Amino acid sequence: MISESTAVSDDLTQYLRDKRSVVEAHLDAALRPTPGCPPSLLEAMRYSLLAPGKRLRPLLVLLAAEASGGRGAEALPAGCAVEMIHVYSLIHDDLPAMDDDDLRRGQPTCHVKFGEALAILAGDALLTLAFQVLAEGYPPATAAACCRELARGAGAAGMVGGQVDDLAREKRGGGLSDLEALHARKTGALFRACLRLGALAAQGERPGGPDPALVEALDAYGRCFGLAFQITDDLLDVEGSADQAGKRVGKDAAHGKLTYPGLLGVAESRARAERLCREAQQHLAPLGDGGRRLAALARMVCTRDR
Ligand code: IPE
Ligand code: IPE
Ligand code: MG
Ligand code: MG
Ligand code: MG
Repeated sequence: MISESTAVSDDLTQYLRDKRSVVEAHLDAALRPTPGCPPSLLEAMRYSLLAPGKRLRPLLVLLAAEASGGRGAEALPAGCAVEMIHVYSLIHDDLPAMDDDDLRRGQPTCHVKFGEALAILAGDALLTLAFQVLAEGYPPATAAACCRELARGAGAAGMVGGQVDDLAREKRGGGLSDLEALHARKTGALFRACLRLGALAAQGERPGGPDPALVEALDAYGRCFGLAFQITDDLLDVEGSADQAGKRVGKDAAHGKLTYPGLLGVAESRARAERLCREAQQHLAPLGDGGRRLAALARMVCTRDR
């Protein structure tokens, strides 16, 4: 007999597969030859953006839009924009000046394939394109609100600030509150932006914008989801394999990174991720059945091997 939780996760697996294909078709369409864009730059952008990622961020945007009463399709520009930001951050994260990695999404990193200069510029171009996609994808007020959310999540007090801290802590170390603050920005801020963007895509044109209670519930879910995600990313680096994860493992300790398993050990880190997953699900209670897929996605993230 199929238990209820298995049924939910089978349903989700198929649903996510379908949505992932739709997102990937949109990403592909967004990266077409444009007069003035050097073919080598386009090639590097496509190489990294279309490589087989999990597409978690665009999926979160789509699910949040559905939970906000949308049909999901209206969330595609926002979902693609976040994925572009995410991929730019991966390209830069892998550079020799940062984590110095040679494998990403199961293939050589962008700078290994195209050289450092073009990799940096491909990242720059994806970052810029993300905001163009938002500006062209929504009516002016919703587009402006989406640009603001994405800029806040990705910028100096969000993802980029977290990346700066991540590198600084390689030398300085830190305690649990430092680690939480680091993860909240380096990874969490962009996940929170995904949930907010989903609400904006579905409800941005309502007078006064999206329902504040809905945004609060989604945001609280996003906060827990983001932290659980980064804990499991840290755990994959300790327990995972490069074949499964598509990236090198065992590098965090070698670089002296401040991580959950490094600070608390594997068992306590896993317990924390589990607790955060349950907490994320509890925050969805006000959404009723609308939060069902988001709840299942949180569970998947906690048990992932890639
Ligand atoms: C990896 O993100 C980088 C972090 C923020 C830890 P993902 O695990 O979502 O990477 P892809 O998109 O599936 O490659
Ligand atoms: C990367 O974190 C976070 C961003 C790219 C913003 P990590 O350095 O832990 O990601 P991986 O492990 O290389 O994917
Ligand atoms: Mg890093
Ligand atoms: Mg890295
Ligand atoms: Mg990592």
